[in-house]
Amino acid sequence: MSEEAVLELKFLGALVEQLGAQMYPSATATIAELISNAWDADAANVWVEFPFGEPWTEDSKIVVLDDGHGMTRAEAADQYLVVGRKRRVEARSDESRGGRLLHGRKGIGKLAAFGTARVLECYSVAQARAVEGADTNGVSPISFRLDYDHIRRRPVGSSYETEAAQDLSPLVSPCGREIVHGTRITLSGLRMKRAIGEARFLDSMSRRFALDASEMRIHFNGLPLSRFNYDVQIRLPRDMTGDRPREGLQVDGDWASEELADGQRVRWWIGFTEKPLADENQRGISVIARGKMAQRPFHFERVGGVSNQLGLEYMVGEVEADWLDEGWDIGEDRIQANRDQLRLEDDTLDPFLTWGRKLVAWALRERRELRTGTVKKEIAAELEELLAPFTTDQRKALRRIPAALAATEMSSVEVMRVMHDVVNARDDQVVRQMWEDIDKEAPDAQVRIWDVIHRFGLIDARRNQTIIETRLKAIDQLKAYVEEGAKEVPTIHRHIKENVWLLDPRWHLLGDEVHLEDLGIKYEPEPDVGKRMDYLFAMQPSAPSTVDEILVVEIKRAKTKDGRVHRVSGAEVTKFQDYLIQAEQVYARDEHPPQVSGIMIADGFSGAARQRSKMEIPGVRLHYRTWARVIRETERLHRGWLTVATRRADSTERGAEH
Ligand SMILES: Nc1ncnc2c1ncn2[C@@H]1O[C@H](COP(=O)(O)OP(=O)(O)OP(=O)(O)O)[C@@H](O)[C@H]1O
Ligand SMILES: [Mg+2]
Repeated sequence: MSEEAVLELKFLGALVEQLGAQMYPSATATIAELISNAWDADAANVWVEFPFGEPWTEDSKIVVLDDGHGMTRAEAADQYLVVGRKRRVEARSDESRGGRLLHGRKGIGKLAAFGTARVLECYSVAQARAVEGADTNGVSPISFRLDYDHIRRRPVGSSYETEAAQDLSPLVSPCGREIVHGTRITLSGLRMKRAIGEARFLDSMSRRFALDASEMRIHFNGLPLSRFNYDVQIRLPRDMTGDRPREGLQVDGDWASEELADGQRVRWWIGFTEKPLADENQRGISVIARGKMAQRPFHFERVGGVSNQLGLEYMVGEVEADWLDEGWDIGEDRIQANRDQLRLEDDTLDPFLTWGRKLVAWALRERRELRTGTVKKEIAAELEELLAPFTTDQRKALRRIPAALAATEMSSVEVMRVMHDVVNARDDQVVRQMWEDIDKEAPDAQVRIWDVIHRFGLIDARRNQTIIETRLKAIDQLKAYVEEGAKEVPTIHRHIKENVWLLDPRWHLLGDEVHLEDLGIKYEPEPDVGKRMDYLFAMQPSAPSTVDEILVVEIKRAKTKDGRVHRVSGAEVTKFQDYLIQAEQVYARDEHPPQVSGIMIADGFSGAARQRSKMEIPGVRLHYRTWARVIRETERLHRGWLTVATRRADSTERGAEH
């Protein structure tokens, strides 16, 4: 082989896929590049026409129109239509004709259009000016069309000849004003078919630019794009406590300004919203260089790791650092091509990232301080009242809890709810031990522990466990009374009165040994029968309603004095039923009459008693129970409950360790 082929590096048209479609995949990225080009052209306005809220069709289009200096035919050919032209290097300047700090650097921004559209049409009218002898006055508009599919199919080594534009209408602003010079970019053959929500799109757009509106105003569908401004509850440096993040910090209106370790200047603000930001992409601090976003919201981490610090999901902010976009060449660029991320691996960013991480940590501490202060103020009166019964030492320990609670994101109401739980559980040895143990931990650990306790309802679970254990003892006691044939008055009577839940956990005592006369019941007793009911219980009403249900309870001892089973007689059942009839009549007079129910408990019922117990009283629910059944039912209920409570308390304790 005498003639060897020259080894050439060749470029295919398909390169635009990587440079355009893949580098700028979102509509926001596409539009942002076109807006930047308008800025670089010294436009005073850029008007974007964007089809929001409807799925895109064949006919949908996006128009970005500016009143910048436009392009001559030569400029289009040598500047616009050259991919990879290093604008700043070529012009030996990083300023626009009008003296603006340029956004453009690499000569690929126009390809961002292909992330969203298949067809780009450009129509431009150059500003009249004298350039090196050649007067461009009276130059006619230029126009061309770029078709992504045609470009991609270009074979090796060939260039792509632009096609004829279809829209040759003169430049007119949305309000009908003729535009003397400027550029219109029309995108069609839109890729995404899904509807784009206006609010969210504009939110993210407004974070991408921090341009002075007096220099250039951005309009979307006729309305000016507002500056990124979230409704924040806390804003730093404005609400800063005495603890400043660094020496030499200057406050300049709503912004702070300072100098980094390497002498570079930054301006910043950080805010915290009241509720967590639903859109995760909006959480964090964005970095702005030359009025354009250089880094999407982040927390100054090199890798996008999830930090579990409390408060990050409320944090927004901006850092302005124009020097990040300094320099002319591409090698010096600290911002990735698609301009939503810094080249975080770049060493020269070290002082900046270290500073940022410290700032984030400081801001989170500030937020905690400020929030804790607010919560403390809000709960002060209620807390003092709640703690009044405690000794001075106990109060001191208890007062430390709300501070830790407030730092866990709890509202004042939630903090007080937990404080009530803690105080109500003060007799519970386990709970008291728990809070004393927590109190010994470092402040940061305390916050985490209280957070877990609150999230999992640990205090309730622990308390339930203790309550149920106590109740099981009371059930055993009742069993013993029944077996030994204790007298209904006073022994069993007192035990039931103190432990109403033995009959049904939903009941609480309205009064015991209630005399019928007191209730206004006219009752003519048989000679040997007293005029009283053993108990009157009421169903715990759910506020604000009053009593829902009235329960008349009649209990009979289990055994006679000589140890035989005490069977209820037919006469005793009749007497019980008479009480109920009277009670029903009394309550029927109420505006909202409660359900009247009766329960008779004995060790056994005679044949006559059973016979009479079948009688129904209209409007009254009647129950006849043996002691054995009452004990069995309450025991089963409480054992089941204990299993659940134990499981819950155990699992939350395990959770707390992690
Ligand atoms: N709206 C416009 N008005 C006037 N000239 C424009 C406009 N848009 C683009 N140009 C010209 O076309 C060139 C290429 O634009 P493009 O966005 O591809 O690259 P760039 O802005 O130079 O660099 P970068 O890739 O960093 O954006 C620009 O440098 C500018 O000269
Ligand atoms: Mg550009």
